[in-house]
Amino acid sequence: METVVSGIRSTGNLHLGNYFGALKNFIRMQHENNSFFFIADYHSLTTHPTPGDLHGGVKQVLAEYLACGLDPEVATLYLQSDVPEVAELYLLLNMNAYVGELERTTSFKDKVRKNPENVNAGLLTYPVLMAADIIIHNASKVPVGKDQEQNLEMARKFARRFNNMYKVEYFTEPQPYNFGEALIKIPGLDGTGKMGKSEGNGIFLVDDPKDIRKKVMRAVTDSGPTKMNSEMPEPIQNLFTLMDVVSEKNTIDFFKEKYGNCEIRYGDLKKQLAEDIINFTSPIRERIIDISANDEYLRKVANLGAEKARESASKTIKEARKIIGFKPF
Ligand code: TYM
Repeated sequence: METVVSGIRSTGNLHLGNYFGALKNFIRMQHENNSFFFIADYHSLTTHPTPGDLHGGVKQVLAEYLACGLDPEVATLYLQSDVPEVAELYLLLNMNAYVGELERTTSFKDKVRKNPENVNAGLLTYPVLMAADIIIHNASKVPVGKDQEQNLEMARKFARRFNNMYKVEYFTEPQPYNFGEALIKIPGLDGTGKMGKSEGNGIFLVDDPKDIRKKVMRAVTDSGPTKMNSEMPEPIQNLFTLMDVVSEKNTIDFFKEKYGNCEIRYGDLKKQLAEDIINFTSPIRERIIDISANDEYLRKVANLGAEKARESASKTIKEARKIIGFKPF
């Protein structure tokens, strides 16, 4: 049985990008693997949430994991901050992570560009903490979206470096995983780029139908094709990418044909897309609302997960300490 690890930051509600890029695969993978799925609350500290925001974000993501179908009896669901062994491994890995390589990562450069006033060391070493999350359970597969590819490459590098440094074959080199398919990128509704939590371009699993209709109707389009079978510009392609994940094949074919022969009415396409999204999210939304009201259940799930995750993590940390040469005098 292979070990699988993945996580989602606790900085806000989950959107369709999180679901189709990652969570859907967590759910598919939980039964056939030794799986660990966590809420990355240490990672969320790079943006300095208030205690109230942090608390609310963590609770929300846990409720959303459960509402989407993660089973706490099958997979280990836990909060990153309940496993301090992760922080220790992060410290150990930081000794062999070089500032130059960290500065060159795309996500770090992006964040520096977007928030020049908050370039903290946690942001710089973000990929090291991710590597610690993964290799603390010696995972081989990591279900993630396309945007995490480079972070996974760095996790492999840090695992390999540790092994080479201490001349051991201890840490497994983790691979990103999407059932043999290319990793997914779900676009936002603003015409370019990926759907994100803070970009204002997302549809969240908890959004109510009215909001979903409003957001989809406002999505960026153009004035429509003028030549038969012309190539789609990015904003239109993006709407079809969203349809690909929520709509029936004959619906998609219908609108593609309309696009091809220049008869498409974007208003109709958006109405259909909005209804298909609502059909997909509505039952999830109801479960999220129910589960978030049940603090006692959430607490129970988190405690069970913490115990299982710590058991696995403390075994790794003990062995890593021994390999490094710390002595238990
Ligand atoms: P985060 O919280 O930004 O996103 C969580 C997961 O959702 C995927 N995702 C997307 N996939 C496709 N299209 C999109 N528009 C989209 N937006 C988000 C992400 O690829 C990710 O899989 N650093 C990570 C969390 C993390 C982690 C880890 C993941 C911390 N430690 C260890 C895996 C293993 C993050 O910020 O993801």
